[in-house]
Amino acid sequence: MDRAHALAHLDDLWQRGREFLGTRYAIMGGAMTWVSERNLVAAISNAGGFGVIASGSMKPEMLEAELNATKSLTSAPFGVNLITLHPQLDQLIDVCLDLGMSHIVLAGGLPPGNALKRIKEGNAKAICFAPAVAIAKKLVKSGCDAIVIEGMEAGGHIGPVSTSVLAQEILPVITEVPVFVAGGIGRGQAMLGYLEMGAAGVQLGTRFVCATESIAHPKFKQAFIRAAARDAVPSTQIDPRFPVIPVRALANDGTRKFMELQRDVINRFNSGELDQKAAQLEIEHFWAGALRRAVIDGDVETGSVMAGQSVGMVTKEEPTADIIRDLIDGAVAALADRRPMAGG
Ligand SMILES: Cc1cc2nc3c(=O)[nH]c(=O)nc-3n(C[C@H](O)[C@H](O)[C@H](O)COP(=O)(O)O)c2cc1C
Repeated sequence: MDRAHALAHLDDLWQRGREFLGTRYAIMGGAMTWVSERNLVAAISNAGGFGVIASGSMKPEMLEAELNATKSLTSAPFGVNLITLHPQLDQLIDVCLDLGMSHIVLAGGLPPGNALKRIKEGNAKAICFAPAVAIAKKLVKSGCDAIVIEGMEAGGHIGPVSTSVLAQEILPVITEVPVFVAGGIGRGQAMLGYLEMGAAGVQLGTRFVCATESIAHPKFKQAFIRAAARDAVPSTQIDPRFPVIPVRALANDGTRKFMELQRDVINRFNSGELDQKAAQLEIEHFWAGALRRAVIDGDVETGSVMAGQSVGMVTKEEPTADIIRDLIDGAVAALADRRPMAGG
C-alpha cells in the first residue's frame, strides 16, 4: 500500500471517531490535571487532534476563564473533563453549556443521571469512562454518547484491567456509540491495532506531557524523558483495612515515603492511637496537592509524577504537531509495510 492509500485507509478506519469529535484525526488528548490547560489543549486541537481541558478541582469561574482562554487560542473543537465527585458539578456543567462546549467528558466515577440529561438537553455530547462491559452497556442505555475504555497501563488513576483485555471485551460488544481506547498507547502502530479491533479513536495522555506547548515544569518533563516503562508503577496498598486508590506514577521519594506513612499509620491504629477514620484520612491526605507540586513547582522527588507505562517512549521535548505526525506516520508505515494478500 502506498502512503496515500494508507492515509485514506486510516481515515476510513477512524471515520466514526473523526465525525464524532469533528476533527481531522480521532486522537483525543486525555485530560491531565494541571497539564491539560489552554496551551496544550489548543495545540492538540490545532494539530488536528482533540484537546480536553482538565478541570480538576477548579471552581466554576476559573473553568469559565480557562475555556474562554482556550477558545482564544484555537477555533478547532476541544472538550472539557469534569470530575463527577466535584461538589459544584451542576454549576460546572452550566458554565460549559453557556459557553457552547460541544463535548463534556465525565470522569472519576459513574456520572449522576441528571448530569447526563442536562448535558444532552444543552446540546452537548457526553463522554464517559467504562471500566467493564456491564458498565459500558449501562452508560449507553442512560444516554452516554461515547465511551472511553482506559487500561491500567495509563498514567493517573487506574483500574485493574489492561487496555488489551478491555479492548477485546468491550469493542465487539459496544457498537451503539463510538468507543475510544486509552492507556499505554505510545506509537501509531498500536493506535492502528485498536482501530482495527473496532475502536473509533484513541486517547493518549503520557505522550503529550513533554510537548513544547505543555506548561509542565522542565523537571517534570526531564523525569518523563529519563524514565522507562517499569518506572511508572501503581501506588501500593499495604493493608486491606485501609484502601488506597491506585494511581500510576513514577517511583520516587514520595512513593517510598507513602509506604512508610502507611506502615506508621497502621502501627498507630493497631496501638489504639488513631481510630479507623483518622487513620484512613491520614493516608488519603498524603497525596493532597502532590500533583500540582510536581507538575507546576517541579518537585519530582516528593510530588506525584503521574505517568503511564508509555513513558519509556517519551524521549524528547517536541512540538505537539510533531507528536501527532509521528503517531500518524507510525500507523501509515504499518499499513504501507503490508504485503498484498495472496490472490488480492
Ligand atoms: C499527569 C496525568 C494527569 C492525569 N489527570 C487526569 C484527570 O485529571 N482526569 C482524567 O480523567 N484523567 C487523567 N489522566 C489520564 C489521562 O486523561 C489519559 O486517559 C491517560 O493518560 C491515557 O493513558 P496514557 O497515559 O497511557 O497515554 C491523567 C494522566 C496523567 C499522565
